[in-house]
Amino acid sequence: MSLAATASEALAKGRARDDVERDAAFLAAVTELQALTKSDLAAVNDEILARMHSPVAMIPELAGHLISAGGKRLRPILTLASAKLFDYAGQDHVKLAAAVELIHGATLLHDDVVDGSALRRGASTANIIWGNKESVLVGDFIFARAFELMVEARDLRVLKALSHASGVIAEGEVLQLTTQKNLAAKFETYIEVVKAKTAALFAAATEVGGLISERSPEEEKAIRAFGLNFGIAYQLIDDVLDYDGFEASLGKTLGDDFREGKMTAPVVFAVARAREDEKSFWRRTIADGDINDGDFENACMLMQRDGAIDDTIACARDYAERALDALRRAPDNKYAEALSNLVITSIARAS
Ligand code: IPE
Ligand code: IPE
Ligand code: MG
Ligand code: MG
Repeated sequence: MSLAATASEALAKGRARDDVERDAAFLAAVTELQALTKSDLAAVNDEILARMHSPVAMIPELAGHLISAGGKRLRPILTLASAKLFDYAGQDHVKLAAAVELIHGATLLHDDVVDGSALRRGASTANIIWGNKESVLVGDFIFARAFELMVEARDLRVLKALSHASGVIAEGEVLQLTTQKNLAAKFETYIEVVKAKTAALFAAATEVGGLISERSPEEEKAIRAFGLNFGIAYQLIDDVLDYDGFEASLGKTLGDDFREGKMTAPVVFAVARAREDEKSFWRRTIADGDINDGDFENACMLMQRDGAIDDTIACARDYAERALDALRRAPDNKYAEALSNLVITSIARAS
């Protein structure tokens, strides 16, 4: 059976897994890609640490806290694996992958301030330990370091892709802010937010792998489309896990989205399906931010009862299918297989 057919079948079967297995399968897929890109990934980590040096002691302390807490390194892996998928033989992929992870790290520092989050990568967030001002400013420093790395690759197309993505991420976060607590927010707007705040960087991460490999415009488009659609699917699942995940494996506090009144897909679907007497529950919690003990559990119950969680996962699965379709337009090798596996298991972890 072809890789493509196997992938689609596995995606459809994802729902049968139990809780432990669903998480383990995703982590195994990440580990497999980490192993495939092992020496490059070690070089990426060295590059990242080297770039955090500063005579201002708080900068390496705060940045080091986030970076050494781990993280899956998904985005730099996407850059490394995309380049290798296309048989790239140079060295620029390491610096660019490091730049991609630094952009991600900077946005996480900012995002945790904006979302008022207390837990990241299983540790207290920098905003809790050092403060909001400190997190925002060190985030800016990390962004600047990412741009220095990008420039060193001396490729204007790459620079354009990554700098554009950085602006789009910020647009996504701001657009999200403007829809927060607004019960009338539309699903289409939510997807726009997701595309911008998360998928833009996934897309740029994979596109860069194609660009430096000097592939055909079709292949460059295909690998970018792969990243974009995987990024959307990934965020949809993250939004499910914020209601229906395990804090210990996520390394983040459940319910942050609920407390912030974020109009993510599970809420948009649940509100649309709420009975008349339940509308006031969503108004009080999401719109007014008046949240009491038991409200989060009630929200989760309503989302399960009305299929809001299942439909969000189904939507994620659609985008995952699109990602796999795009990947089929790129070479079929061990990197493609591992990337395909990553997409499939990323959906299964919420199913
Ligand atoms: C967190 O990204 C932000 C989202 C887009 C959901 P990851 O889930 O890749 O987080 P780390 O980097 O592994 O900590
Ligand atoms: C992703 O959104 C944030 C960025 C891409 C910056 P979330 O707010 O859902 O991410 P987490 O859940 O805090 O990791
Ligand atoms: Mg957040
Ligand atoms: Mg989240």
